[in-house]
Amino acid sequence: MSREVLAVVGLGYVGLPLAARASEVGLVTVGFDVSATVVAGLNAGRSHVGDVPDATVAAMLSRGFAATGDPGALAGCDTVVICVPTGLDGAGEPDLTALRAAGHTVGGHLRPGTLVVLESTSHPGTTDTLLREILEKESGLRAGDDFHLAYSPERIDPGNPHYTLRNTPKIVSGYTPLCLKHATALYQRLVDRVVLSAGTREAEMAKLLENTHRYVNIALVNEVARYCERAGIDVWDVLHCAGTKPFGYTAFQPGPGVGGHCVPVDPRYLDVHAAEQGFTFELLAAARRVISGMPSRVVERAAVVLRREGRELAGSRVLLLGVSYKPDVADVRESPAFPVATLLRAAGAEVTYHDPLVPAFAPEGVPMTRETDLTDALGRAELAILLQDHACYPARQLAQAPCALLDTRGKTAGARVTLL
Ligand SMILES: NC(=O)c1ccc[n+]([C@@H]2O[C@H](COP(=O)([O-])OP(=O)(O)OC[C@H]3O[C@@H](n4cnc5c(N)ncnc54)[C@H](O)[C@@H]3O)[C@@H](O)[C@H]2O)c1
Repeated sequence: MSREVLAVVGLGYVGLPLAARASEVGLVTVGFDVSATVVAGLNAGRSHVGDVPDATVAAMLSRGFAATGDPGALAGCDTVVICVPTGLDGAGEPDLTALRAAGHTVGGHLRPGTLVVLESTSHPGTTDTLLREILEKESGLRAGDDFHLAYSPERIDPGNPHYTLRNTPKIVSGYTPLCLKHATALYQRLVDRVVLSAGTREAEMAKLLENTHRYVNIALVNEVARYCERAGIDVWDVLHCAGTKPFGYTAFQPGPGVGGHCVPVDPRYLDVHAAEQGFTFELLAAARRVISGMPSRVVERAAVVLRREGRELAGSRVLLLGVSYKPDVADVRESPAFPVATLLRAAGAEVTYHDPLVPAFAPEGVPMTRETDLTDALGRAELAILLQDHACYPARQLAQAPCALLDTRGKTAGARVTLL
């Protein structure tokens, strides 16, 4: 009997770990990506995803994995899993261009009996309407009758050493009960625990709820932080105390904003979809106002700190520490460091950045000077702003820095340290 062939469409932060796991459990795995750089890199044994070491790619290649830009490779597959980006366009609206394109590609090579799974995040109805219609039109086949269609939202947490694809429960849903059965059989081979959903729309909504929950709660703690500053209350102590409650409270931290491909993006998918149905999420609009105001709050606080030092933002040397969107990852997508840097530059500050994980950083297309020696950089700056709590920033070194420090992460304390 021939071995089962699985194709992953889109080999990024989500698709590559999935392909690695599929290859590990013994599926013949093919990766299709429109980026020639991604394809060439993987076939040469180079990973572009932090959580997937080069050694893993080498092991995949030795087990027969191949990346390709040839959509014809999809024709011989038993299962196709779509993991393409679903971000926002220039106007901040949901951008389903990649998902539609992937649908056309997969549909054009679909054979009867294939299982197609969507993992990309999108609004409810994407799988059973938008994707299904594209697949059916391109292939002339019918979902549920001729091929199987499923949705399983990715929950990957880049940089998290404890929760991986394998040990994070995986929601699985199907267009029909038979589709669900096939999708469940696939994921039972890949992950420790499969959670069955009533339908694809419930699974799509569950994913949006998870990230919207995070978004709204981050907005709440940021608003609490603003209030505490006004009222002369130490918000970091408040958070420490509240965080000791063992039930009914989930801890979130204030900061310069939210970033990444999910938390700032997914609530917009929910919002737009709800609006199309005449429904308004009151909390989302309020949360967006609070979160989008955080970068300017950081800059206002920076000005206050410098004024205490007898300086103005204009002409001051300001060092940004950590510009990626989360600790210890290289991903800068939607990072609040971009608006913070742009506002600082607009105020006339001379801004540089230090981030060992981010080789280049160019807010609004204007490259910023990168500092590579932390001690030297702190010695030259008049103000350092800790934007991202990378492990490479020891609290003690920051507390003893020869410049003023604005700590947006509540990591450190000291005579010249100001917390957000
Ligand atoms: N990154 C995360 O932490 C995370 C977590 C959970 C869910 N998600 C969701 O997973 C999906 C993928 O996100 P990601 O972070 O892996 O994106 P990514 O940008 O890291 O990777 C996407 C890959 O898809 C490729 N691609 C784009 N269009 C394509 C097409 N038409 N055909 C084939 N390949 C194509 C790109 O070249 C890229 O290599 C998104 O919907 C995202 O919301 C991401």
